[in-house]
Amino acid sequence: MDKQTLGISNIQVSKVGLGTMAFGRWIDASTSRRIVGQSLEIGINFVDTANFYGKRQDIDHIGDGLGEQIIGEILKGKRDQIILATKVGMRMSEGKMGEGLSRHHIMQEIDRSLQRLQTDYIDLYQVHEFDPHTPLEETLSILHELVQQGKVRAIGCSNFAVDQLRAAYDISNYHHQTPFTSIQSQFNLLARSVEHNVFPYCDQVNIGKIIYSPLARGILAGRYSSIEDIPVESRLAKGEARIKHYFTNENFNKVDKYRQIAEEVGCTLVQLILWWTLEHPQVNSMLIGASRTAHIDEIEKVIQFGKMPVSLWNQISSIDKIPNIEE
Ligand SMILES: NC(=O)c1ccc[n+]([C@@H]2O[C@H](COP(=O)([O-])OP(=O)(O)OC[C@H]3O[C@@H](n4cnc5c(N)ncnc54)[C@H](OP(=O)(O)O)[C@@H]3O)[C@@H](O)[C@H]2O)c1
Repeated sequence: MDKQTLGISNIQVSKVGLGTMAFGRWIDASTSRRIVGQSLEIGINFVDTANFYGKRQDIDHIGDGLGEQIIGEILKGKRDQIILATKVGMRMSEGKMGEGLSRHHIMQEIDRSLQRLQTDYIDLYQVHEFDPHTPLEETLSILHELVQQGKVRAIGCSNFAVDQLRAAYDISNYHHQTPFTSIQSQFNLLARSVEHNVFPYCDQVNIGKIIYSPLARGILAGRYSSIEDIPVESRLAKGEARIKHYFTNENFNKVDKYRQIAEEVGCTLVQLILWWTLEHPQVNSMLIGASRTAHIDEIEKVIQFGKMPVSLWNQISSIDKIPNIEE
């Protein structure tokens, strides 16, 4: 599988990365193990997690580290084969020090993540979202120290708006500190705003682009048709309320159009969507949220499709009225 270098780092990640938000949350340790094993077999070298991922997320919105713990067990003896990314910043305990991007919280959480992941370094340590209560200078300075200490190889951010990303870049530059190597953003055929603002800035200053939720958390997989009809085994049924943001007539109409194109092409809706995303010129790595081994089979097929004809890529793109790339 193709690999791409993330920003100014020497970290090379596979074009498809394994997102593990489901591990310990909706799927057990043995299914997680099978998914990782199969991912490695098809050439995925990039595994993304967060201290926050686990069982309690859907109960009281507090992280319990279960996802990291499961990955730590699975990666025993395989650590060197993997680019391992995790995140910090979401709520891990009650109280004002239990979340955010303060020096105190990050220092506490890095050691906990290393312990759960059973490793002495993290390849890419990402801040999960912008923290309006902590000066960026404080966050960037502790992240820089972690790189110098060797606990972390590179740092990244997630869910930052372009102004926040620009501010972070300027601060790191000014203080000669480690800059963010990458950003992890939501990006899919129903949510493309980063194409207009975040991605162009990343290209300008060489920040890597990792994208998440390519299937819009299942909407673009055709998992749902209306709010009245929620499949029993779906993430929405299991408590992931965020999916509801996608439930609009406009989105369901777009899904119908993508489905029609998939039928004409002779592939599944999921394959068409993932193929388009993989071929997007601004995507360095696409995180898939596999919850079954069959999902890895599907991505393997997509990789075998090779290059998507430009006319098809543009046809799909035009449904959301984003300018075409040049043929
Ligand atoms: N930085 C952040 O704030 C953030 C936020 C979200 C995610 N992420 C990262 O990005 C990863 C991917 O996000 P996501 O899980 O939302 O991705 P996604 O690809 O948009 O959604 C995956 C979901 O789609 C459904 N699905 C149906 N057919 C599928 C197929 N063939 N292959 C894969 N999924 C299929 C499954 O849901 P059902 O089980 O309901 O069928 C699956 O859980 C996460 O694991 C995490 O690492 C990061």
